[in-house]
Amino acid sequence: MLDEIKKIDNLEELQALYTATFGKNGTMTARLKTMATLSNGERAAVNAENAELRRAFKEKQIELEQAALNAKLSSEYVDVTLDTEPKNHGTIHPLTETLSQIGSILESLGYTMWTGPEVEDDWHNFTALNTPSYHPARDMQDSFFLDNGNVLRTQTSAIQIRAMEQHGVPIKMFGVGRTYRKEMDATHSPMFGQIEGLYVDKIDKHITMSDLVATIRTMLERYFERKLEMRIRPSYFPFTEPSIEIDIKWNGDRWLEIAGAGMVHPNVLRNCGINPDEYQGFAFGFGWDRIAMLKFGLNDIRKFYDGDIRWLKNSGF
Ligand code: PHE
Repeated sequence: MLDEIKKIDNLEELQALYTATFGKNGTMTARLKTMATLSNGERAAVNAENAELRRAFKEKQIELEQAALNAKLSSEYVDVTLDTEPKNHGTIHPLTETLSQIGSILESLGYTMWTGPEVEDDWHNFTALNTPSYHPARDMQDSFFLDNGNVLRTQTSAIQIRAMEQHGVPIKMFGVGRTYRKEMDATHSPMFGQIEGLYVDKIDKHITMSDLVATIRTMLERYFERKLEMRIRPSYFPFTEPSIEIDIKWNGDRWLEIAGAGMVHPNVLRNCGINPDEYQGFAFGFGWDRIAMLKFGLNDIRKFYDGDIRWLKNSGF
């Protein structure tokens, strides 16, 4: 009987043999019924055989169930390492990549990202930025105006106004988005991107020009992943006072203008309902495309917007 059990290779047969042995009319059942007529020695022998058979059935059952499980697992196994048909994978656009890098640097410095409308009203793009309609600084930027007096945002500074109006102060934010001006050559596109930071807090926090310069240095050095030689020039923007422009030494010999910045003009704060006797801060702005071009050694800004897949694939991103 033990040999018979050993040879069985499926659960159905095992079940059948078990029933034939221990079932109502089973052979062992019949023998157990005769126990009363047996001698002590015979009884002990039947008991031992009974126990041994039950153990053998149990072992075989476990063995067969395990085998069935293994078979199921291997037949349902999916080889995730198997190569599929080669596919055309999309890639992240270089400007998107640049924004996510700059964005995470600024976020690590405590700035929160804001966006705003590309079609702006006069107030947010100019007037609130201390550039009323008679202001000569409006000529600094050749703007695309709409018939209704709105304008294609010429600078992401407009987002900073919206942020101060909606969020109030203290505020530490950066605005990012597309901006539009009438200019077009290899380094200027009529549509380009800007990233502008703003930090305004209580006067007793002593936010100064040196905090501004340190912030810009930190951001640029982390982005370009090296130490940079920086030069600060006095400049003019209607919405900052004093205003500066920052250049970096590029390729050992050339100074390149990289950012405009300054302490937020008291009129701008006032226009956003903030008391300049209580609050002060700084603002800075970068060309989004510009820094991407520098980092990746590209020389034609228009390529970013051509949508030429061959160029995008080979642009090194
Ligand atoms: N908005 C300015 C520009 O477009 C840049 C700037 C931003 C300057 C913030 C100072 C402060 O040129």
